[in-house]
Amino acid sequence: MTKVTVVGAGNVGATCADVLATREICQEVVLVDIKEGFAEGKALDIAQKAPVIGYDTRTVGVTGDYARTANSDVVVITSGLPRKPGMTRDDLIATNSKIVNEVTSKIIEHSPNAIIIIVSNPLDVMTYAAHLASKKDRRQVMGMAGILDTARYRAFLAEALDISPKEIQAILMGGHGDTMVPLPRYTTVAGIPVTELIDADKLDAIVERTKKGGGELVKLMGTSAWYAPGAAAAQMVEAIVKNQRRVFPVCVKLDGEYDIKDCYLGVPVILGKNGIEKIIELDLNDDEKAMLETSRSHVKEVMDTFDKMNAGA
Ligand code: LMR
Repeated sequence: MTKVTVVGAGNVGATCADVLATREICQEVVLVDIKEGFAEGKALDIAQKAPVIGYDTRTVGVTGDYARTANSDVVVITSGLPRKPGMTRDDLIATNSKIVNEVTSKIIEHSPNAIIIIVSNPLDVMTYAAHLASKKDRRQVMGMAGILDTARYRAFLAEALDISPKEIQAILMGGHGDTMVPLPRYTTVAGIPVTELIDADKLDAIVERTKKGGGELVKLMGTSAWYAPGAAAAQMVEAIVKNQRRVFPVCVKLDGEYDIKDCYLGVPVILGKNGIEKIIELDLNDDEKAMLETSRSHVKEVMDTFDKMNAGA
């Protein structure tokens, strides 16, 4: 039986659990929250949708009962605060790092073999926090951001080209913030280089909009997005539990790849039953390398802030 735990029954966690169940990605989803009755209610609602849509994944909700999450194959951690208008993701570091630390330790106690996917922000540094707390192999602790960021990029391109978003393949690297590095050189429409189909100014505007894609939604809704983030996390779970070996941009600790060490950044990987099966190293040009370096140095600064907070704790 494939069992997946989603920690945090807020908008992102509940959407992820809903996609996992609706698409029958696993046999059981356990949704956990600290707010009394919240996860139970959301799980019940998802279970009651099953006869209408037609799926048989079992959905269970619990309030803080980590024993019920035991022996999960994959755990998605969405816990923590979302941002409000005017905030950056990095502003959440103090609150969310404590939560991610605590949740990861409880998860590991009951599911030592689980592969962990972090969704909480600031994403790259929360992946670092979970990796430290879990003491697991780096291939088994990863962050979800690249699928979401490329999804935004692909959706904007699909709209501009008046074409199905399914036809657009893209890769994007770097941190989950304004320094992220969309890669037009590695973007195709059914195999056709996107640069042959759209003019440079339009493409530049789409790249810039993608970088600020999360903020655009925060401004519109007063809180962070959830449909695309929840679905993106579920897609990573699917690649792992079905051993699909799909290629996605995923946040992982780099250990010499791209000449970067000890930093958590989004890079293209093959995702399968062991988690990160392989990190793919692209032959970046000088401009792309420079953008990746800017992103690395920003993420490293936030990692340093996290280290200082931890040392003072
Ligand atoms: C997103 O990109 O939607 C998330 O990281 C949430 C946020 O605050 O932007």
